[in-house]
Amino acid sequence: MAGSDKKLTAKLVLPDSKEVALPVMVGAEDEHAIDIRNLRQDSGYVTLDTGYMNTGSTTSAITYLDGEQGILRYRGYPIEELAEKSNFVETSYLLINGQLPNKTQRDSFGRMLTRHSLIHEDMHQFFAGYPPTSHPMAVLSAMVTSLSAYYPDCLDRSAPVDLHITRLLSKVRTIAAFSYKKSIGQPLIYPKNSLNYGANFLHMMFAVPSEDYEVPPVLEKALNQLLILHADHEQNCSTSTVRMVGSSGANVYAAIASGILALWGPLHGGANQAVIEMLEQIHREGDDGSKFIEAAKDKKSGRKLMGFGHRVYKNYDPRAKIIKEQCDRILAGLHINDPLLDIAKKLEAAALGDDYFVERKLYPNVDFYSGIIMRAIGIPIEMFTVIFAIGRMPGWIANYKEIMDEATTRIYRPRQVYVGPTERHYVPIEKRGKNP
Ligand code: CMC
Repeated sequence: MAGSDKKLTAKLVLPDSKEVALPVMVGAEDEHAIDIRNLRQDSGYVTLDTGYMNTGSTTSAITYLDGEQGILRYRGYPIEELAEKSNFVETSYLLINGQLPNKTQRDSFGRMLTRHSLIHEDMHQFFAGYPPTSHPMAVLSAMVTSLSAYYPDCLDRSAPVDLHITRLLSKVRTIAAFSYKKSIGQPLIYPKNSLNYGANFLHMMFAVPSEDYEVPPVLEKALNQLLILHADHEQNCSTSTVRMVGSSGANVYAAIASGILALWGPLHGGANQAVIEMLEQIHREGDDGSKFIEAAKDKKSGRKLMGFGHRVYKNYDPRAKIIKEQCDRILAGLHINDPLLDIAKKLEAAALGDDYFVERKLYPNVDFYSGIIMRAIGIPIEMFTVIFAIGRMPGWIANYKEIMDEATTRIYRPRQVYVGPTERHYVPIEKRGKNP
């Protein structure tokens, strides 16, 4: 069991020789943390940890990640087992509620997701207002925020959040598919209640009113697995953002929309798009990857090997391992020969044999191969990060719920070390000179 172990204490000696005893907390998987919650009160000092390299911002019972060993578990279940045996709806239930559902619970959760897939007809006009060049992440984040306007009871913090959670999980697919249809000038395709979660999304993405469309099972299976692999990942940038925004008491739609925006960046969820752009560039230039690797090692080039490296994993990302294995199977099942897969494999082999990457423990992350599968499914490159967002939805929601349910949650409000000018006094503009 996790908790503060009274026997373990760390001692901090301050410059004036004053000693501060700090309790050591031991997590459920024996990870040790120095509890500094009373440090400033007891000593006047704060800690400085830019980028949160060493800082645990919370305790959490949702996801366990051991970056040295390459272990990832949702609520205790290994990612490998869930990716092989579960489906996205069930995994979402697990993350949000803490337990795998029994059959009745799973069926009822699935029915709720089916029932709430439509979005208010008035919202369709919003899609029409965006230029076709809009990035779908801009549209998705704005639409998720807009949901709060259509369900204003979300502003009542004492009301249950469950129905809003169902709406979010369900409608995010519809919003994503509508934004795609709008961008290619096709009519919006409404969700179909006879289809399950992933198939319904693919139907809204790829069906047209003029002909029948049957969702190929191989695509549905591939999407289902990708969504499970993206479903949660502990206190990453977007999840921490969701918790931070939620800690102010903001409603669930606002908090999730902020997570979507944090995910968009190329160092986070936007990396899946950046990887394919990188592979396409290498392909176009006829490079075997070696030129790109040299550039990625040179800080002045401004390039990085996208889809490589991770703040926590100092070993092969277990999600990347599964996705890489699936690439061959899925592409073979669809009779696709994608030259980018060969380039990616060569690039990986070259990087893993290169001292620069070995010394820094840089391995492929979840984004390195996921784009190859999404391309095979037929998802356009600008939608890749949207797929990541749909997948991450249950993780964000579980984290939002966790901070809302905890009586001890306080607003997230880090300290800083101020390095700007010390006090100075206002100078009237006529006395400021040319180059103040
Ligand atoms: N290519 C080349 N060098 C790299 C790379 C890379 N992809 N990643 C890290 N490095 C170098 C970095 O320059 C630094 O070198 P040095 O010690 O000489 O200064 C060293 O490795 C440590 O990296 P860092 O940038 O200090 O590590 P970080 O924990 O701050 O950043 C990261 C992690 C994921 C942002 C970074 O590895 C990166 O930018 N990777 C490429 C983008 C990417 O694939 N992002 C997806 C992350 S996984 C999914 C997700 O979270 O959304």
